[in-house]
Amino acid sequence: MKETAKIILDGKTYELPVIIGSEGEKAVDIRKFKQETGCITYDPGFGSTGSCKSSITFMDGEKGILRYRGIPIEQLAEKSTFVETAYLLINGALPNSHELNQIRVHLNDYSMVHEDMQDFFKNYPRASHPMGILSAMVNALRSFYPELLTTEETLSATFLRLLSKVRTLAAMSYKISRGHKVIYPRQNYTYCANFLNMMFDSPVRHYEINEDLVRALNIFWILHADHEQNCSTAAVRVVGSGQVNIYAAISAGIAALWGPLHGGANQAVIHMLENITTNGGDVNWAINKAKDRNDPFRLMGFGHRVYKTYDPRAKIMKKMCDVVLSNLTKADPLLDIARKLEEAALKDDYCVDHNLYPNVDFYSGIVLRAMGIPTTMFPVMFAIGRLPGWISQWKESIDDPDWRLSRPRQVYTGPTKIDYIPLEKRK
Ligand code: SDX
Repeated sequence: MKETAKIILDGKTYELPVIIGSEGEKAVDIRKFKQETGCITYDPGFGSTGSCKSSITFMDGEKGILRYRGIPIEQLAEKSTFVETAYLLINGALPNSHELNQIRVHLNDYSMVHEDMQDFFKNYPRASHPMGILSAMVNALRSFYPELLTTEETLSATFLRLLSKVRTLAAMSYKISRGHKVIYPRQNYTYCANFLNMMFDSPVRHYEINEDLVRALNIFWILHADHEQNCSTAAVRVVGSGQVNIYAAISAGIAALWGPLHGGANQAVIHMLENITTNGGDVNWAINKAKDRNDPFRLMGFGHRVYKTYDPRAKIMKKMCDVVLSNLTKADPLLDIARKLEEAALKDDYCVDHNLYPNVDFYSGIVLRAMGIPTTMFPVMFAIGRLPGWISQWKESIDDPDWRLSRPRQVYTGPTKIDYIPLEKRK
């Protein structure tokens, strides 16, 4: 017997179908609700609204569960690589050794960007934020690769081109922003090693690949690879629903990720920890500001729309801080502040009542600082990690028979009908 939900509206009972997901999650199917009742639903921020069915990522916010194509994030972080995880998300299964070698070859083949793009960077205002540059450059890729995505082959080539070139573009924008020589990708380096080398190698000082940092970067990007229908993925799907090319949809995702409430939080966390340091290291200063309803200050890196417990990615990222810092025989005073802030927040009634636990962004900045990544590039690092997720979600949307142009409705609260007032009669 199909499960249904009943709604009584204006004295009339409407019965709506209930959809049940593979993990037992339930959704009331309201697709016919407007035409049957003349009514719409209201859900700013879409906290209670499902935009699609998806088989890519499963999250359980109460239990702190995250799985990509059914595989727990903890196992992928421990055993997989970012390239392998990207393949899993996009193709639905882990690659065999032949498939893995194939994608490695293609990622190397596609790693260069058109020389003309360097002129774009050089003419970009120097103080530009790397996320604005990345969003623009990804959009520009369409002009260099205008072929239509009509076959599995052209689709796959485009996905690999995006995965490979976004990494090159990010490193290139960093080098050019510092007036340094651009370092080209190398055929004999793996995906993550290549990125670190393009970022930090230079004609005057050879960058020694540190395998522990390469491993840490793989884990960092695995942890960021997908997260079901978050703000930037929703942007990719909404923009993609107009049937625009994938480069424009991904460019919109980068723009959506940039905000400090979303992927820009990792940068904002560092600024917050530095502020706490300036305020004598008093973590309660930050917690009290966050509790003050007249103060817009928020504990950056805390809280989540879905997780109402510790973000499983934050647990892994926290452990990585120790590994990366000890490997570099480095200490970071902000890590001590971060730990103290977490400890105080987990004991604070307001934070506990509002489910303010560390999310993926809270410790990620410490890991990136240890790698030598500049703070302004932290959201870019998130974007490179999230790219396979955006690609897989875009691909799933264009293959989805239920998918249609995204066009939400509204509850109008403006003036009812009034007539035009000629200029001479206006006060
Ligand atoms: C990411 O969606 C995803 O999956 C995102 C992401 C991904 O992988 O794609 O996980 C990545 O974006 C992680 C989140 C990074 N952002 C931050 O760390 C910024 C700080 N966090 C918050 O701004 C906030 O927690 C959000 C935006 C993340 C979630 O906010 P919600 O679900 O919209 O909750 P809300 O803003 O409606 O707040 C509910 C209450 C409010 O208090 P009341 O008015 O009810 O008394 O909780 C309070 C808020 O003031 N609150 C916070 C807070 N977060 C929520 N108070 C202080 N500090 C915070 N961080």
